[in-house]
Amino acid sequence: MTDSISREDLFDVSDKVALITGASSGIGLHLCSMLLERGCRVIGISRTATKATDLGHLGGKYGNVFLPIDMDVSNPDSVNSAFDRIGKEFPCIDIVVNNAGTVTPKRATETSEKDWGLVVDTNLTGPFLVSRSAIPSMTRGGSIIQIASIGAFKAFVGLSAYSASKAGLVMLARTLALELGSQDIRVNVVSPGYVITPMNSEFLSGPQGEKVRKQIPLERFAEASDLDGAILFLASSASKYVTGACLHVDGGWGIV
Ligand SMILES: NC(=O)c1ccc[n+]([C@@H]2O[C@H](COP(=O)([O-])OP(=O)(O)OC[C@H]3O[C@@H](n4cnc5c(N)ncnc54)[C@H](OP(=O)(O)O)[C@@H]3O)[C@@H](O)[C@H]2O)c1
Repeated sequence: MTDSISREDLFDVSDKVALITGASSGIGLHLCSMLLERGCRVIGISRTATKATDLGHLGGKYGNVFLPIDMDVSNPDSVNSAFDRIGKEFPCIDIVVNNAGTVTPKRATETSEKDWGLVVDTNLTGPFLVSRSAIPSMTRGGSIIQIASIGAFKAFVGLSAYSASKAGLVMLARTLALELGSQDIRVNVVSPGYVITPMNSEFLSGPQGEKVRKQIPLERFAEASDLDGAILFLASSASKYVTGACLHVDGGWGIV
């Protein structure tokens, strides 16, 4: 039997070190802020993390440690040199959120190898490289959360590279869960439906978006904050016996 957790501590992440990729925009930017607010020390990763003005104020705002790091998650050299720097400031990492992602919506017949490579390298190879580099620092155990998408489970015209990369990410999570359980590192997936962010706000506010909205059982798109509960659950001891799982945060769209 493991220790039971008091009700107050169930979702506690204070003093944990969290590394979030895709921190300069949308969901990742929001998650940095949410975890800082709850007392985490946060490493925010993106290709432009140190330049992104929205990130600059976060550390000061919550009086907590925020470290922005420039890293291209799809480039092994960039990942390795960024982790050299991270290791000097944070020898131990507790939470990794592989959130950086990209999409080039095109039918498969119009998708070039370059388009395919960009999406798969960012959305699938990136989380592999980042997880592989972070795992040796997860010496207290911890939680890796892969941000997939409803596209990993449901087919959409124009999203072959994106959906294939996200489906691969789900299986990467399950394999890592199997390999890392003995180190008490849990690996899980959060699979959002549409979340209003710069990635898609134009599409969602147009007529096509309205058509999609009507199909969603909860009849609305998500805000980034709709992911908070799932992230806090999987990042904290509340989910201490959960690994290899996928939480669908999609307003029920996946069941339609
Ligand atoms: N929004 C949705 O409806 C939705 C739905 C399901 C799943 N998701 C997933 O949620 C995640 C975040 O999406 P979002 O909507 O917040 O997107 P977003 O606003 O476009 O932000 C994407 C983030 O990823 C970073 N990024 C892109 N390529 C990178 C690379 N090679 N290396 C490092 N960072 C990189 C970008 O920063 P830089 O440009 O500075 O590098 C940015 O911070 C993605 O994985 C996406 O697939 C989103």
